[in-house]
Amino acid sequence: MSIAQQKLEQIRAQVQSHLDGRQTAALTDARRAALEATIRGHLNAHNAVIVAHYYTAPEIQALAEATGGCVSDSLEMARFGRDHPAETLIVAGVRFMGETAKILTPGKRVLMPTLDATCSLDEGCPSDAFSAFCDAHPEREVVVYANTSAAVKARADWVVTSSIALDVAEHLAEQGKGIIWAPDRHLGDYVQRESGADVLLWDGACIVHEEFKARGIRDLKQVHPDAAVLVHPESPASVIELADHVGSTTQIIRAACELPQKTFIVATDQGIFYKLQQAAPDKTFIIAPTAGQGATCRSCANCPWMAMNDLEAMAAVFDRDDNEIQVPEALAAEAMKPLERMLAFAETLNP
Ligand code: 13P
Ligand code: SF4
Repeated sequence: MSIAQQKLEQIRAQVQSHLDGRQTAALTDARRAALEATIRGHLNAHNAVIVAHYYTAPEIQALAEATGGCVSDSLEMARFGRDHPAETLIVAGVRFMGETAKILTPGKRVLMPTLDATCSLDEGCPSDAFSAFCDAHPEREVVVYANTSAAVKARADWVVTSSIALDVAEHLAEQGKGIIWAPDRHLGDYVQRESGADVLLWDGACIVHEEFKARGIRDLKQVHPDAAVLVHPESPASVIELADHVGSTTQIIRAACELPQKTFIVATDQGIFYKLQQAAPDKTFIIAPTAGQGATCRSCANCPWMAMNDLEAMAAVFDRDDNEIQVPEALAAEAMKPLERMLAFAETLNP
């Protein structure tokens, strides 16, 4: 079993215990209103802004929008946090997103509802083992997904998000460069097939996307034969094969607006439905099945770490002393290089 797979097994157990212990009781309207008022008060008092990912709960996304923050994919979160004048960024997402924000803007305070919000891709790529892997293949360009620690980014030549992963692979393939791709083997496999690049894969996976099932999607297509299938590239190849469109979260939302179909089967985290429904209110969205007919999925298309960003945790952000992102200066300086390269490359695609 590879290091990444051993880590994945540990993470599965950790996720299960988190899900078992999760507080699922719905908030009363009064409690929700009180929490939202507290958060708004904190944002004003601390010159802070919410930077939220599409996978967070609808109420978090709505609050971010209503208070001048952003709701976006990981690439745009990085840009927004860097460019916004607020002194404090409240990153509602997972830890690598907070770290990216801190690396890009060391002068800002970056807080998260909890630093326990991690990611199976990040956890499945420990920096020491990854560095040894890179050392064994010095002739290859090291491309890492944004879903990694600052230490792994510091070891990389390039950082990519799913929005530009394929463009970067094509760019390197055109130059005849071999690539190390980490941590997501499904995304790496996809860009290898699409770009023809010479890719050596790290063996990580997203516990949410790898649960989508091709057979379940085929069955659903029988019921909705006119539906288009939208797939995030962290999904297995058998699922990607069924896609009418493969793309990052932002690209999935754009495709839902632009494609002529009225019904969509969506293989990514359900949090995206808030924005999908907002962007295309006359269309119908159905979550792709995660575990055949039985309700045996672990994540059920709902990232357990994204779900940690609830209103209670957001309201307590300024009361805690263990939720500020810190990245040592020297490490941040190294990780900044491939991140800036990513942002500069992204500018050339969408100037
Ligand atoms: P995006 O880069 O598409 O926002 O995806 C981030 C992520 O964690 C997907 O699981
Ligand atoms: Fe990580 Fe997957 Fe959660 Fe995205 S959905 S943060 S890749 S575990």
